[in-house]
Amino acid sequence: MPDTDDTIPPAPENAATGLRQGLTSYGDIGFSLFMRKAFIKGAGYTDDALDRPVVGIASTGSAYNPCHGNAPQLLEAVKRGVMLAGGLPMEFPTMSLHESFAAPTSMFLRNLMAMETEELVRAQPMDAVVLIGGCDKTVPAQLMAAASGGVPAIQLITGSMLTGSHRSQRVGACTDCRRYWARFRAQEIDADEVADINNQLVASVGTCSVMGTASTMACIAEAMGMTVPGGASPPAVTADRMRVAEATGATAVKMARARLTPDRILTPQAFENAMRVLLAIGGSTNAIVHLTAIAGRLGFEVDLQALDRMGRETPVLLDLKPSGEHYMEDFHHAGGMATLLRELKPLLHLDALTVSGHTLGEQIEAAGPGFAQTVVRPRSNPIYPQGGIAVLQGNLAPQGAIIKQSAANPALMEHEGRAVVFEDAADLALRIDDPALDVSADDILVLKRIGPKGAPGMPEAGYLPIPLKLARQGVKDMVRISDGRMSGTAFGTIVLHVTPEAAVGGPLAWVRNGDRIRLSVARRELSLLVPDEEMAARAQAAPVTEPSAQRGYRKLFLQSVTQANQGADFDFLMPPPHGTRIPGAK
Ligand code: FES
Repeated sequence: MPDTDDTIPPAPENAATGLRQGLTSYGDIGFSLFMRKAFIKGAGYTDDALDRPVVGIASTGSAYNPCHGNAPQLLEAVKRGVMLAGGLPMEFPTMSLHESFAAPTSMFLRNLMAMETEELVRAQPMDAVVLIGGCDKTVPAQLMAAASGGVPAIQLITGSMLTGSHRSQRVGACTDCRRYWARFRAQEIDADEVADINNQLVASVGTCSVMGTASTMACIAEAMGMTVPGGASPPAVTADRMRVAEATGATAVKMARARLTPDRILTPQAFENAMRVLLAIGGSTNAIVHLTAIAGRLGFEVDLQALDRMGRETPVLLDLKPSGEHYMEDFHHAGGMATLLRELKPLLHLDALTVSGHTLGEQIEAAGPGFAQTVVRPRSNPIYPQGGIAVLQGNLAPQGAIIKQSAANPALMEHEGRAVVFEDAADLALRIDDPALDVSADDILVLKRIGPKGAPGMPEAGYLPIPLKLARQGVKDMVRISDGRMSGTAFGTIVLHVTPEAAVGGPLAWVRNGDRIRLSVARRELSLLVPDEEMAARAQAAPVTEPSAQRGYRKLFLQSVTQANQGADFDFLMPPPHGTRIPGAK
């Protein structure tokens, strides 16, 4: 491939660069720069160093975030790459979010992290920024910030954790967390064994080792051209991951010199490549919400029906849990994204530009020929014939709902049943294991008020547990419906993101125990078999009051968060849509 600097047009000559940009306002530009240099020289920098292209590095290391536990080593490698390429690395802290250490849910804070990152990238002088992210909400937040920030930006993924072993069975977070916990609830394993498993599920620092949201967003970031080639798959503790970090630093310097801004990379074609990959990897349903939010920052609207059509012609090729059998480190050994993209080539926009300055097609070529492996299937022999995610519609979800069909039970995908309704998460916790609960395996569990405003923050509570009395009878799956999300590591016949949500008066709000519901994945249908007049009467009898708060971020959130089909972003962070819908007609 030609050198990056030859392929990207150079920056305009008169643009302020390095420390000269974004000066603090003292009413005297010369004095502002004089002051800035005086302070930074207090840290021992020379004029030579300060004249280099400045690469900011958004550092998200945190004791509360073991998924980013390799951040110190990554930082050193990025800095090395920046300096080898002639730039000046400037690390700065931002907030960091871990799935298990953010209450009520990390999604509640995603938009805050996106805002903070965007503002820090804009407020501080930098010619490019390296965004170090990994755990589920961090990469979406950083890509949202990148899309809005207008500064050349490159994503560095922290990388997946290693797998552990329980009695010779390979285990990894967190599909196996759920599997073993379900077995514990069903009394198939005892408390001692589940404690042993707890020690093995997370064998090292790094992100979840299956195709959960973190791995999905890593693959999507690479497919969109926002990482260096091969940036998605190396596990967190490997030499390959450190080499990716060094290459990321060096690439950031080239992007700074060329002013390669995100709007040139995050095009409709790039988003379509990301959607194609999302479907082909059996990726997390959460990624649809995040992609919608990132696209929304550029004025693009996601067309869920078109995404569903794309899904019908995109097979699932990646044999990773929860849709398949393998783990992220296996995907890396199988060649990572290069292997997948090579197989998907006829379905991709190969001329989409990437952070390297090369097109996606050039990068696939440069990766060389494939080799024998068993993790990425050929299109002629897929894991699942259609894309992993289907979009449902009907009177219960007028603006759509989704189901991860590749992780669902085929026997339940055409199902009609009686609704067993839980009004909110607290009601669920109170009654789901009550021996007196009137429920059978053919019923449909419905959970309300866990949407963007309902919980708030659209928590991953859509993976309702099987009621204890049924679990102990051996019931492993039931149709479950909610306006919330579920972890990408989860599995089952689970309908999510019902829009509009119950908390803003969507039809879900008035579903009652005993109502009949029909799910047909083949027809993409989600119907409540209750007459319209009866629904109108119920709405009139019990009107919904939207949740609100008195102060702080919660108030801002409840006033501003959009519905799932708009990415659950804040309305004031999205420019008016300009009519570009993705995916478009091919
Ligand atoms: Fe961080 Fe799963 S908890 S990636």
